[in-house]
Amino acid sequence: NKRITTHSFKKMKEDKEKITILTAYDYPTANILDDEGIDALLVGDSLGMVVLGYEDTTQVTIEDMIHHIKAVSRGAKRSMVIGDMPFVSYHISKEQSVINAGRLIQEGQAKAVKLEGGKEIVEDVKAIAKAGIPVMGHIGLTPQSVHQLGGYFIQGKTKEQSDQLLEDAKALEEAGAFAIVLECVTEEVAEMITNHLKIPTIGIGAGRKCDGQVLVTHDMIGFYHSKSPRFAKRYVDLHEQIRNGVHGYIKEVKENRFPQEEHVFKMNSQELDKLYG
Ligand code: KIV
Ligand code: NA
Repeated sequence: NKRITTHSFKKMKEDKEKITILTAYDYPTANILDDEGIDALLVGDSLGMVVLGYEDTTQVTIEDMIHHIKAVSRGAKRSMVIGDMPFVSYHISKEQSVINAGRLIQEGQAKAVKLEGGKEIVEDVKAIAKAGIPVMGHIGLTPQSVHQLGGYFIQGKTKEQSDQLLEDAKALEEAGAFAIVLECVTEEVAEMITNHLKIPTIGIGAGRKCDGQVLVTHDMIGFYHSKSPRFAKRYVDLHEQIRNGVHGYIKEVKENRFPQEEHVFKMNSQELDKLYG
C-alpha cells in the first residue's frame, strides 16, 4: 500500500499496467476513491462546472483550487493528488507560474500540478519542474481556451493537428512533464503519441491505447445534471438515487411517518447522552 509517485507512473507504463485517475473535489469522495485503489486524484478545474456551478472553467481562481485541493489531500492516503492550475495562473511569467504552482503544493498539499497547453507553456513547465514540483501536461481539447476555440471540439482529425499534437507532447516531455493528459483526441493520434513518449499518456475521450484513463467523477457517477459527453461512461446514476432518497424524505415528513420511535430521545431513557464519537 505504498504511496503512488511519479516513479509509479513511469513503472506502470513500462509494465503496461493501466493508470487510473478520477477527479475529486472534496474529502468524502477522496476517501472513497482512495480506499478503492485509484492511482491518482485529480482536483480538476472542472470543479468550477460540476461543483461550483460556473459556466466554464475560466472563472475558477487559485483560491478555489487551494480550498478544494486541501480537502482532497486530507482524504488521500495512497493516491497521488494532482491539482489543476486555473486559468491565467501560469501565463503571465515564469515567476508567477512557479509561485502559483508552489501554492497548490504548499497550501493545498498537492503532490503535483497540471497545466493546459503545448509548446507555448514549456518555459513555465521547466521552471515549475526545476522547483521540484512534478508537472502533468494537458493537450488536445483544452477547456480553458473555450472562448478562443469557440466551443468544445474533437482534436486530432487532420494531419496538421496530429503533427502539432505530437510536437506539443514531445516538447512537454522534454520540458520535464511526468505525464500528459490527452483530452478528446482521436484514437489513432492518441496511440501514435503514446508510442512516441517515454512518459505515460492519460486519456479522456482519447481512445483505448493511452497508458491510463481519467474521467470527471461527477459524470462517471451521474452526479451532474447536464448531459455528459459520449466518452464519459456512466457507471452509477447517483442523480436518480439522490432524487429517490429526497422524495422519500419529503413524503415521510409530510405524512408524519418520519421520525419514528427509533429516531427519538426520551427523558427517562437509559441511553447515554453522548451521541457518537
Ligand atoms: O478539470 C478536469 O477535470 C480535467 C480533466 C478532464 C482531465 O482537466
Ligand atoms: Na482541467
